[in-house]
Amino acid sequence: MSQRPQRVLTGITTSGTPHLGNYVGAVRPAITASRAPNTESFYFLADLHSLIKAQDPARTQRSTLEIAATWLAAGLDPEKVWFYRQSDVPETTELMWLLTCVAGKGILNRAHAYKAAVDRNRADGEDDDAAVTAGLFMYPVLMAADILIFNADRVPVGRDQIQHIEMARDFAQRFNHVYGRDWFTLPEAVVDDNVATLPGLDGRKMSKSYDNTIPLFVPQAQLKKLVFSILTDSKMPGEAKSTDGSALFQIYQAFATPDETAGFAAAFADGIGWGDAKQQLFDVVEREIAPMRERYEDLIAKPGDIEDILRDGGQRLRERYAIPLLRELRDAVGLRNLGSAASIPSDAPASARAAPPAFKQYREADGRFYFKLVDGERVLLQSAAFDAPRDAGQTIARLRRGELALADAPATLGDGVDAATVQAALDALAAADAEKAAS
Ligand code: TRP
Repeated sequence: MSQRPQRVLTGITTSGTPHLGNYVGAVRPAITASRAPNTESFYFLADLHSLIKAQDPARTQRSTLEIAATWLAAGLDPEKVWFYRQSDVPETTELMWLLTCVAGKGILNRAHAYKAAVDRNRADGEDDDAAVTAGLFMYPVLMAADILIFNADRVPVGRDQIQHIEMARDFAQRFNHVYGRDWFTLPEAVVDDNVATLPGLDGRKMSKSYDNTIPLFVPQAQLKKLVFSILTDSKMPGEAKSTDGSALFQIYQAFATPDETAGFAAAFADGIGWGDAKQQLFDVVEREIAPMRERYEDLIAKPGDIEDILRDGGQRLRERYAIPLLRELRDAVGLRNLGSAASIPSDAPASARAAPPAFKQYREADGRFYFKLVDGERVLLQSAAFDAPRDAGQTIARLRRGELALADAPATLGDGVDAATVQAALDALAAADAEKAAS
């Protein structure tokens, strides 16, 4: 295996105004992670994805600027990590098409975001796909391209994104199978269950949809006003207060040292007044945010500098990875110079064209008939028993033609084999059958 550093890739959605909850839950941990040794980190603004939801050009531009400035102000160092804008690496959309052509439509039908849209339409008595764009439907393929174009090993995401990473693995696997070699690393989702979700002004999770946020870079006076508007109970100074379920306390904890937090808890027990507590909370938040706010304001005042940083990152990445990869992939799929002889790339490893997966039919000592799907030595799928060889043969044929879904087949997955691998092998066989039929 190669010794290259682990590649960790983080996609940043470019919508909305970042708030303290985003900072504590996403930005701050990601920036800490960006300093990990022996990793090559990729951070990009998913501006192409944003077009699915936001179609106001001025807002798209403004949001991209604000989010870029936020990450830089919060300490992301473009000298040490790749920091770029998705739309500056146009090879991503080219790769998206190559992946689109191996992606199962059925898999996309099952994507949570798309299914939710369909469910809403059904509930409203509308056509299934009313107001659903093909962009929403294809979202997972674009996301797969973001990840696979740099062969990321790990992708930190929230729980809601795990399915997308699984799809990226599936598309990568299918592509690898169809085009006969490990073109793509299979990415792993990394979910950190310890990241704090910060409560908002009203005690519910801080979220734009609850309208209870504290924006990250509001002017100091407004930050103070917002902190003082955090909901508390009506206990008087001198009365002991509970830290449990106190939004004030939880936000404090997210910005204070453990010692300070212990002191704050003691003050609650001693009956600190809410006004004092709010002042102390404001102080710890302001201590961390103030230097960032200053950098943010400097950055936002010079949008051309941010533009240069992003372009530079994108350009270097294209030259180093994206352009060479797409050159190879075009060749791999046969988008080739017509003057050159058809061949597998000469730099492909010897194993590149190992025997493709195959079905084997056989009879056991019990007198019954079975089949298995093997990939070299490895058993991908093992059938149940059939009374007649004809039944086994027909089941194989229906699987090969895609008439019988894998999940419905009278068969079990081989040891340590996942359904996506078997499906990819079936797809590769179907593609080979179709090729034979056409020639
Ligand atoms: N879908 C991600 C989100 O909503 C953003 C994103 C786009 C992304 N492309 C990505 C995340 C690639 C990780 C990897 O948060």
